[in-house]
Amino acid sequence: MEIRAIRGMNDLFGSDLENWLAVEKKIETIFGTFGYREIRTPVVEDKRVFSQTVGDDSDIVQKQMYEVKGSADESLVLRPEGTASFVRAVLEHGLHNSNHPQRYFYSLPMFRYERPQKGRLRQFYQCGAELINDPTPAADAEIVILLDSIYQTLKVPQYTIKINSVGCEQCRPSYRDTLKAYFRPHLPSLCAECQKRYERSVMRILDCKNESCQALAKTAPKLIDNLCAICKEHHVKFRTCLIETGTKFEEDPTIVRGLDYYSQSAFEFTTTFIGAQNSLAGGGRYDGMATRFGAKPFPGVGFALGMERLMLALAEGKVLHAQPLLPLYSFLPVGPRAFEILYPLSFELKRHGVWVEMNYDADKSLKSQLKTADRSGASFALILGDTEIENGMAILKNMKQHTQELVSIATLQEELLGRKAL
Ligand code: HAM
Repeated sequence: MEIRAIRGMNDLFGSDLENWLAVEKKIETIFGTFGYREIRTPVVEDKRVFSQTVGDDSDIVQKQMYEVKGSADESLVLRPEGTASFVRAVLEHGLHNSNHPQRYFYSLPMFRYERPQKGRLRQFYQCGAELINDPTPAADAEIVILLDSIYQTLKVPQYTIKINSVGCEQCRPSYRDTLKAYFRPHLPSLCAECQKRYERSVMRILDCKNESCQALAKTAPKLIDNLCAICKEHHVKFRTCLIETGTKFEEDPTIVRGLDYYSQSAFEFTTTFIGAQNSLAGGGRYDGMATRFGAKPFPGVGFALGMERLMLALAEGKVLHAQPLLPLYSFLPVGPRAFEILYPLSFELKRHGVWVEMNYDADKSLKSQLKTADRSGASFALILGDTEIENGMAILKNMKQHTQELVSIATLQEELLGRKAL
C-alpha cells in the first residue's frame, strides 16, 4: 500500500490499546488520590507559546516543531510538550489568581520532529502533572513521590530517580562562566553540536549523549556546588522530603533538562531497560515561566511521563494491566429459522450487558462457524439448526472444556443470562 502512517506516528489498537487504557486508568486514579484534576489544552498553539518558554537554543525550538498552516499573520505549531501550553492556559483563565495551590494533570499527544527509533516517536503521549502556587520544596517532592507512586503501582521494573538543582538567575550566570572556563581547553574534543552549545547554552553540554562530551561532563564543575544560599536551602529541603518519605533517589549533576524554563529542582526517572531512550519521565520547577509570557510569575512544578516508554518498560518486564476482552457467547445459527430466533436474542442479551458475538451468515456450514467461534475466544458457542428447533432444544458448547449440553429454547434468555465467563 502506498499511503501509510507517518514514520514515528503509530496506530494503536487491539490488546496493546486495551493494556494502554488500563494503565491510563490506573494513573488517573492515582492522580485523583493526590488531588489532581484534568486539563485538556488544544493540539495547535501559537508558536510563541514554546519559542518564548522552552528556549531558542533547545532542540524542540531549533528543529523539532511541526508548523501548521494558519492565516498569513499566524505562526502555529503542533504542541511539542505540555507545560508551556498549561501555563498559557493558566494565565489565560486566571487559574493562578486564587494564590492557593492548584493541581492539574493531562494525558495528551505531543509532536516532535525527531529521528524515530525504539521509544522515540514523532507523535507520542505524555501523562503529566502540574502543581502551581506552591513554592515549597515539599511541593517538588510531592511531584516526585506522585510519579514514583505511579511507577510502583504499575510495577515498572528497574527505574532510577535522579535529581539535581539547576539553580536560578542569581547563581546560574557565574556557574556558566565557571563551566566555560572548564570546557575552553577541551573545545576540540566536544561534538559539533556541543561546540555550538558552548557559546549560547554551555550547560546543555552536560546533557549530551556523545561519549567524549559525557566523559568531560563527568569531571566538570557541578552547579550543585555553586548554588546561591536560597537554591541550596531549597535543594537540601527537597532532598529531606524525599528521604523522610522513603523515596530512593540519586543525585545527578548532569541532569540539566533540555528545556529552558526550569529553575531549582530538576529530575528524571530513567531505566536501562528500554534501550537508548532511557528517560522514562522528567520534570522540575518552572517558577519564572509566566514572565516569558510577559505576566507576573507564579510558582509551578511538574512532570511528564512518556506513555510509549512506560508501555515498553512494562512489556520488557512482562507486566500486563488489562485482562484480554473476550465475548461470553458466540451464536451460531444454521439456516434462516435459527437466524430469526438468535438475531433478536443476541441484542436482548447485549441490552443486559452480556457480550455476544453472532455469525450473521446462516448459510455457512456449522464447521466453519465453529472455527469463527473458536477464534473469538468466547466461553460458550450456542448452536441452533432446524433439528434443534424441531426438538425445542439448542446446543450450548463449552469452548474451554469441549463439552456440550442441551438448553430449552423456550427459556434461552434466562438460561444465558445466568452464566459466567470460563
Ligand atoms: P521532556 O523531558 O521533554 O519533559 O519529556 C518528558 C517525557 O516524555 C520523556 O521523559 C519521555 O518519556 C517522553 N518523550 C519525550 N520525547 C519523546 C519522543 N520523541 N518519543 C517518545 N517519548 C518522548 C517535558 O516535556 C516537560 N514538559 C515535563 C514537565 C512537566 N516539566 C514540568 N512539568
